[in-house]
Amino acid sequence: QKAAPAAVPTAGSWADLKQQIRTCQACSLHCHATQAVLGEGPETAKIMLVGEQPGDQEDLAGRPFVGPAGSLLKECMAEAGVEPPALYMTNAVKHFRFTTRGRRRIHQTPGAEHVQACQPWLRQEIALVRPQLVVTLGATALRAVAGPSAQLKDFRGLMHEDAQGGHRHLSLAHPSWILRLGPTEQAEQERQRLIEGLRKMQTAL
Ligand code: URA
Repeated sequence: QKAAPAAVPTAGSWADLKQQIRTCQACSLHCHATQAVLGEGPETAKIMLVGEQPGDQEDLAGRPFVGPAGSLLKECMAEAGVEPPALYMTNAVKHFRFTTRGRRRIHQTPGAEHVQACQPWLRQEIALVRPQLVVTLGATALRAVAGPSAQLKDFRGLMHEDAQGGHRHLSLAHPSWILRLGPTEQAEQERQRLIEGLRKMQTAL
């Protein structure tokens, strides 16, 4: 017998949630980011994809996965036969964390405190969408979904039941990390591994 999901908060309305995210000041990231970047996609999607945080381009555009990592992700999805519009895509952290070097804004990994501050929003999104499968990209998203001590090496590529969340969970590498490997053989291997993971996601339902 399947246990009733315990940790899913009662879903409020989308309108309230969006307003709360847009005006969130629960951590310091809102001070420098252009705007909070909300999730996008069908509110009844069967699959929810969770990234780390908006990047430079997402911060400016106010939309998730519109920069280089999003392009690689969509390229891999196309090779895996996945239709991006069918997915709900969001991030563990809604504001861009960066440091400046001259005029450039350099990505900084969000800290545990930022993930923690954004938890209510991600949980509400999960409660509203009620996906069958949550796919996390990279370590930050993994920790936001599976807990702060979760390690990518223990989860990567594996599908498991998230009894508390009431959905299945699949953890994959983050496309930004693959981009950072540069044009190397390892990057190509990791790209292929991401495509395999996306195929697994697609056939899981
Ligand atoms: N990386 C992420 O994790 N999310 C985005 O929206 C863009 C880049």
